[in-house]
Amino acid sequence: MSRREGPSGEEVERLVAAARSVRPRAYAPYSRFHVGAAVLAEGRIYRGVNVENASYPLSVCAERNAVAAAVAAGRRRIEAVAVVTGEDAPTPPCGGCRQVLHEFGPDVLVVSETLAGRRATWSLTELLPAAFDASSLRGP
Ligand code: THU
Repeated sequence: MSRREGPSGEEVERLVAAARSVRPRAYAPYSRFHVGAAVLAEGRIYRGVNVENASYPLSVCAERNAVAAAVAAGRRRIEAVAVVTGEDAPTPPCGGCRQVLHEFGPDVLVVSETLAGRRATWSLTELLPAAFDASSLRGP
């Protein structure tokens, strides 16, 4: 088998715990939809929360803020992302976040968990098939 090794079970548990621990810091006074996210990048964990704005479209998702933290720390390769919300069912990342995650790892493992511990797992390829990426761009 030539499958690249994914994150270990222990890494996934640490990632979900990190997303859960940061969720209370979400700034979501408009939607009241609090999201915590964490990405595993080159063995390190970076966290993010959604940060909303009175000018609604300027709000940024938790996943994208976690990716930004990883990139600011010099990471370029994301292996997994965890999302924690207070919904009844696990929340999948929005389309925009799928695209941003794809930039740093086309086969990112996506794990989403509710506060009550219900969990769903997908591969990014499953959530974003036929993605637009650098190979889709034609140079001048
Ligand atoms: N949101 C996230 O942070 N991540 C998701 O995966 C879905 C949506 C945020 C954006 C907005 O602040 C609020 O949740 C409601 O859409």
